Amino acid sequence: MQKLKPSADSLPILLTGATGFIGQHLQRRLIGDGYRVRAVIRSGSTSRQALSPACEVVAADLTERSALAGAVDGVSAVVYCAGTVRGRRYEDFVAANVVGVQRVLEALKEAGSSAPFLLLSSLAAGRPELSHYARSKFAGEQVLENYPDLSWSILRPPAVYGPGDVEMQPLLNLVRRGVALRPGPPGQRLSLIHVTDLACAVSAWLCAPAACWHLNCAIDDGHPCGYSWSEIGEAVGQRRVRQLPVPMALLRAAGAANAFMAGLFGYSPMLTPGKARELQQEHWLCDNSAFSSRTGWRPEIDLQVGARDLFAQS
Ligand SMILES: NC(=O)c1ccc[n+]([C@@H]2O[C@H](COP(=O)([O-])OP(=O)(O)OC[C@H]3O[C@@H](n4cnc5c(N)ncnc54)[C@H](OP(=O)(O)O)[C@@H]3O)[C@@H](O)[C@H]2O)c1
Repeated sequence: MQKLKPSADSLPILLTGATGFIGQHLQRRLIGDGYRVRAVIRSGSTSRQALSPACEVVAADLTERSALAGAVDGVSAVVYCAGTVRGRRYEDFVAANVVGVQRVLEALKEAGSSAPFLLLSSLAAGRPELSHYARSKFAGEQVLENYPDLSWSILRPPAVYGPGDVEMQPLLNLVRRGVALRPGPPGQRLSLIHVTDLACAVSAWLCAPAACWHLNCAIDDGHPCGYSWSEIGEAVGQRRVRQLPVPMALLRAAGAANAFMAGLFGYSPMLTPGKARELQQEHWLCDNSAFSSRTGWRPEIDLQVGARDLFAQS
């Protein structure tokens, strides 16, 4: 089995999206594990301060292959965590979620590198018909199919929460106060994963990339069949919470209004008609067995523990 052993003089891991919510946890985890981390950030990025001083930094646009030659030079593995999660049109998602994947792979090929490649995709990629985001994540995965000789793997996390998250946190805050806005049907069940467990999964992959050859799997915190909203309430609020169903028509209208306003005022919306369709799905569930059996990774933080730590820090 191919193993990437960290040591002070080992080759660097290339990490994209290192300045984001998940990427910041990844850099800390990988550096803590003893890896050298080379972060690619966009030129002119305003998030440079999010990088650990221990990271090597390459400023390069992910959509420009020539700029990526230096970034991929001599790397032992690539963890592609860059991504766009907010947007109004499909084109808003393409640069980071599709073209960047393509360009990094082209740069690796041009350099004659066989460094294993891990794509942080999304559970949403399994339902590309729902939203521009989901379609773009699926398209990013499809790019890898054109590289049959490369050792690549895809992880599809469900909703990720933990310190630094801004998307899930407002919902969790509301649950903490005793109200759960339920966007889906009464029996809706959702998988979740704490960002620390996700970072551990990436670290486990780095120890066994060959065992995960062309594996595409969704991983979560191991809570059986995800969480119902009452289980989310009990775990986060530590009491029975009041569930407020959000009518489908209202959610879709709010998504359409927000997308319209975003077009008018030039911001990147999270709630769009596509996001509304994602939120209304009955189930978003994962199965850890394939990844765990290949890497030995086991999630350790369920929502009760994750939420307790999260609120203890805030
Ligand atoms: N958060 C979740 O619940 C969740 C769930 C499933 C999957 N994912 C996936 O995990 C990945 C990271 O998500 P996140 O929550 O950490 O997102 P995030 O906080 O928005 O971070 C996104 C990262 O990607 C970089 N990026 C965005 N567009 C880019 C572009 N055009 N060129 C270069 N870099 C670009 C950002 O750089 P700047 O700092 O320069 O903006 C940032 O480092 C994404 O691929 C997302 O689809 C997230």
